[in-house]
Amino acid sequence: MTDETKGETPTRAWDNVGGMPQMTIFLRAGHPDFLDLPWEYALAQWPQHSPRVADLPRGLSRHAVVFVDYDRRLYALKELPPGVAEHEYDLLRRMGEIHLPVVEAVGHAAVEHSWGTTSVLITRYLDYSLPYRSLFIDASMQVYQEHLLDAMAGLLVQLHLAGVYWGDCSLSNTLFRRDAGTLQAYLVDAETAEMHEHLSPAMRYRDLRIMQENISGDLADLAASRLLPAGFPVFETPRSILERYQRLWEEITREEVIAPGERYRIQERIRALNRLGFSVGELQLQAAEDGSTLKLRAFVTDRNFHREQLRRLTGLDAGERQARIIMNEIQEYKATMSERLGRSVPLSVAAYAWMEQVYQPVIARLQGYIQTHRANPVEIYCQVLEHKWYLSERAQRDVGHFAAVEDYLEKFS
Ligand SMILES: Nc1ncnc2c1ncn2[C@@H]1O[C@H](COP(=O)(O)OP(=O)(O)OP(=O)(O)O)[C@@H](O)[C@H]1O
Ligand SMILES: [Mg+2]
Repeated sequence: MTDETKGETPTRAWDNVGGMPQMTIFLRAGHPDFLDLPWEYALAQWPQHSPRVADLPRGLSRHAVVFVDYDRRLYALKELPPGVAEHEYDLLRRMGEIHLPVVEAVGHAAVEHSWGTTSVLITRYLDYSLPYRSLFIDASMQVYQEHLLDAMAGLLVQLHLAGVYWGDCSLSNTLFRRDAGTLQAYLVDAETAEMHEHLSPAMRYRDLRIMQENISGDLADLAASRLLPAGFPVFETPRSILERYQRLWEEITREEVIAPGERYRIQERIRALNRLGFSVGELQLQAAEDGSTLKLRAFVTDRNFHREQLRRLTGLDAGERQARIIMNEIQEYKATMSERLGRSVPLSVAAYAWMEQVYQPVIARLQGYIQTHRANPVEIYCQVLEHKWYLSERAQRDVGHFAAVEDYLEKFS
């Protein structure tokens, strides 16, 4: 039953086989068929009926959610009223297609039980993700709380730029992943979302108001359970997310006026947006009425600039900040290689050499650590790089990757 579904067409219909309830399941290709799960029971009872169910931390939710494990590939299943899973699946799939940070839609099922009909949404478990409660409950995670505010603001800006109204932005509906010392936020619950060509300021305002109400609620719940330090700014925190959102929105959408002789500022603007991780799709240049200046507007497509670059060059799947740090390292590697060989080495060649001579040997040495801590290799690599900078600064010379790995293992294993 663990065979993966094959073929290009992402469908698999299946009806009333061997004692199962009447059901139809729709799946994208490349995943298990999920037919060995105890579909005859309500999801809440699955932990007693399937060895595949995995117990992992999760956010608060109205609906039953279970995680299942297929050869260490994890999936999340959520039980919903009839028809709702299909709608949420469709939204998540469309958002994924335009590279927004959302959980990956895998399929949906319609199940007819003797007691009623349900629909079930299937998504890929977001590996290495943390629900926000872990970030507050675990003392070692508290350093991330400030980053959580930037991550929430960044997620909303990305959704709004793409015309997505969320309608239920909350901490429970978001997952967080470590990203080179910061956090990246992912939308996990799209039940109320809407996709538009363009989002009006009124819609954005409404979404931001919902965000503030929900997040104060999430934090007030934590405070009531005594999971927040006394005096935690429950009501100022959502306000701070709003301010970060406004600053980032303004930075991305602002119009610049360019005087004659300042054409270099066009490239500068693109580079500044790239540094924030945004890819620029189009530029609009408009001559001012008197013809003496130009008005420049840049339109961004997504916030995966370095991620895409790194994936193209190395196949590595990284967070945006992780990718930026690694791309800097590859650029540095290219410069050193070019100098050594006395000619300019293409970036693709340097990236290949870096993978072979640096990344893979470092990760091979860290394999044991990565497995024991169930850690994300790319994140650990970035931590080792940071450790290398720290050691090199103290030694006043570059200590090299391998000395840094050994010292890292000694200190943190
Ligand atoms: N793909 C996934 N990867 C990791 N965790 C997930 C995934 N899908 C769901 N979860 C976990 O399950 C929790 C509940 O999911 P979700 O918010 O979609 O449920 P819900 O019942 O629709 O919520 P609400 O009460 O807001 O309507 C999430 O907070 C998250 O912790
Ligand atoms: Mg939810």
